[in-house]
Amino acid sequence: MHPVIEEVLARGFVHLPDVTIDTLVFAESIGTVFRPLADENPIVTMKIEGNDIDKTPYASCRTPALSLHTDYATFPSPPRFTITHCIEPDPEFPGRGVSIVLLLRAAIQHFEKNERALLGLLKSEVFPFCRNAEHELYHSTVPAFAILDVEGRVRFDRTLILPHLDPAGDARKADLIDAVLRFETLCNEHAERFDIALDRHEVLIVDNRRVLHSRNECTVRNEGTRQLSREVNIAFLE
Ligand SMILES: [Fe+2]
Repeated sequence: MHPVIEEVLARGFVHLPDVTIDTLVFAESIGTVFRPLADENPIVTMKIEGNDIDKTPYASCRTPALSLHTDYATFPSPPRFTITHCIEPDPEFPGRGVSIVLLLRAAIQHFEKNERALLGLLKSEVFPFCRNAEHELYHSTVPAFAILDVEGRVRFDRTLILPHLDPAGDARKADLIDAVLRFETLCNEHAERFDIALDRHEVLIVDNRRVLHSRNECTVRNEGTRQLSREVNIAFLE
């Protein structure tokens, strides 16, 4: 195992300086790169200029800040690690476009001690997922999963979960929505948080089994146009 991956496993995340080589070349030098489909480029370029749904189809990228999530929560085999490589920092670095990392251990301990009913629900309830239209292809092959599964995987992204849970007319669904939101709130309150502003050529690698991640607001340059740090995400299977 590559020493960088060993460090991620030990600490939950690592922040590396001076990664000047191509993102994919770097990723392949430390692990097996996850390709959701055999012919799909594994790099997701998070360059946001404008609010055009066709040019920037990822719904989460069009929001000023991302909600807490693990990556690719709806894929059949969610990847273990995610790399964010900063190509160009936010114009207002280090104040905007900051990556947020929550180490889940303290939150899980809180759940075990004080929120056993919620923990049980998150481990047993199978939540339906919804993705945006671009990912319909995946939807047909992806079964529904619990947020915390028996193999220790964390599959959380409320922007993908809630659209299929319409509270109107279904008290059970409303309970599940409440559970999802409460999980996120309690993670914010009890997980150990790190704010990491990525400068040019810096890399952040997170372990999707131990960390929820998000990003704060990025710079709004003019009406209808947002500029996010140009980052690329690559994920690894174990
Ligand atoms: Fe992510």
